[in-house]
Parts: sequence; structure tokens; C-alpha cells
Amino acid sequence: MKQQLEAILANAKKELSAAANARDLDAARVKFLGKKGELTALLKGMRDLSPEERPAIGQLVNDVRAAVEQALEEQREKLSARALEARLKAETLDVTMPGTGAAMGHQHPLELVLDEIKEIFIGLGFSVADGPEVELDYYNFEALNIPKDHPARDTQDTFYISDNVVLRTQTSGMQVRTMEKKKPPIRIIAPGRVYRSDASDATHSPLFHQIEGLVVDQGIAMSDLKGILELFAKRLYGDDTVVRFRPHHFPFTEPSAEMDIQCYRCHGEGCRLCKGEGWIEILGCGMVHPHVLEMCGIDPEKYSGYAFGVGLERTVMGRFKIDDIRLFYENDIRFLEQF
Ligand code: DAH
Repeated sequence: MKQQLEAILANAKKELSAAANARDLDAARVKFLGKKGELTALLKGMRDLSPEERPAIGQLVNDVRAAVEQALEEQREKLSARALEARLKAETLDVTMPGTGAAMGHQHPLELVLDEIKEIFIGLGFSVADGPEVELDYYNFEALNIPKDHPARDTQDTFYISDNVVLRTQTSGMQVRTMEKKKPPIRIIAPGRVYRSDASDATHSPLFHQIEGLVVDQGIAMSDLKGILELFAKRLYGDDTVVRFRPHHFPFTEPSAEMDIQCYRCHGEGCRLCKGEGWIEILGCGMVHPHVLEMCGIDPEKYSGYAFGVGLERTVMGRFKIDDIRLFYENDIRFLEQF
């Protein structure tokens, strides 16, 4: 029996190491270790052994089984290492091949110019504030000197969410929100989306962007406003830019004005771009109304301030000679790729 066992072990080792793939290996496993395999068959013969012989042979059977199992495991590892090597050889990667370039996106023209505007004002000591687009009537109108029955409400075709909640029609509410939170000196710009119930055409969109500005401190005068806004225009449109201030009316500023720049195409002669005017309107501005300061808890006897509001789309359209506001929102790659 001992010889039989040794013969089985020798055979098993030979067949296992000859197995060239997983299927051969499994066949060999069944042949030697399976329920109907050679070792099992031999175990059945143990019955005929004398009780003295049994322990020694039993031990030997176990040793042979362990040796076969080890040989099986070794061959399995060998095969899988061989398979891996073959796969790596087949999958060669040439790192010197030229790559396929990833297409670069473009910054949206609105974002591009807004970044420039922020940069200009940050350089002048302003910080950037952010506020909600769904706004209380109080901040959008009431606290800006525009009570419920004020005619200025009609000119700002408002989207009402409820009696007291609107989609903000202007970023001017950020003046109030800022003054409620911070005490002077205040020096902020607040860019953001605004909404008006306008039909869209080449110059109107129900969604557009404004940049609000607010400065409050002791001794702030109209000359400060003019100085800063002229500087802003020159930084944005070039040093030779000519500006003018025209008297205007806004409920939350007194006095109020609009700032124009001389048409950069015709230099004041009058052309199609400036509709024959020679000037292009850029922003609304004025000295913060004392009543607005008061409503925000700032003493108008002690402090004064100025504010301004710039339309971003109009600024960008002038800058890049874009003649239709809708191009900004249509995401046409052919348009966007130009910036
Ligand atoms: N909020 C005004 C508008 O939407 C623009 C404006 C005018 C803002 C004068 C101001 C300002 O801060 O002082 O038409």
C-alpha cells in the first residue's frame, strides 16, 4: 500500500506539473483528490489493514494528500503568473505615442468681463458681496424709497413670487442688505442676476446681470463718485475714454445721474452703434438718499455715500461689438469660441 501511495504521489506531481491550463489542472485534481479519485479509492482499502498498520498508513495517506494539494497550488500559481505575463506582453503601451489633446473650454464673455470689472474695483479697495435672487419686496423696493404705489414699480416689470417676495429686478437691494449688516466705512460691489418680465429681443432678456456699487463713509461727495466711475470707465474701455454725467432720477439716490461714454466707434460724431447720439449710456448712479441711509440705521447727518448700477450685458456687448443679447444665453459654441 505504501508503494501504491508513493506511485500516486509521483504520478500526481507529474500530471499536475504538465497541466498547461486551468482545465487540465482541474481534471488532474479530480483524478487524484476527487470523490472517485485514486486517493479516495485507496482509502477504502484501509479496511483490510490490520489495526496495527492503520495509523502509520493513515498518516501516510494524509501526507500524500497534503503533498498533492501543495503541488496543485504551486501549479495553479505558476499558470496564473504565466497568464499574466502573456497578457502584459499582448498589451504593450507605447508611452512615446502622441496623445489626443483634450479640447479646452472658453470662459463665457459675461464672466470674462465681470472678472475684469471685479479686478478693477478690488484694486480700488472694494470688496465683493453676494445676495439672494429671490428677494423680499422690502429690499428690492420698499427700503429703496419705492413704496407700494410708486410709479417706478411699473417700469420694472416685476416677477412676483407672492405679495412680499419677488425675483429681484435690480441688485440695488444689496445696498440695503449691506448697510444693515456693516457699519461705515463701506466699499462694496455686488454683481448678480436680475429678472424682469420683458419679452426677449435683440436688446432685452428676462434675465440679465447688474453690478451694484456702494460706498458710505464720512465726507463722501459727488466728486468721489465721478472720480471713481471715470477711472473705472478708463480702465475698462481704455485711457482715452471720455465720460459725461447726465442728470437723471432714481428714487434711492439724490442727486442722481447716468454716466455715458463717448462712442468708441465714431468718437462723438454719431453713428449706428450710438444711434446717432455720439454717446453710449453705461450706468446709473447718485448719492445715496438720506432716507435710505436712515432706514438702514445709518445717520445721514454723519455719513454720506454714493451708489451705482452697471448693466453687465450692455457693457460686454459694447466691448465686443455684440449686437444681440440672446447670444449670451444660447450656448452656441460658434459664438462662445470667439472669446
Ligand atoms: N437699479 C437701477 C436700475 O436697475 C440702476 C441704478 C441706478 C443703481 C442708480 C444704482 C444707482 O445704485 O445709484 O435701473
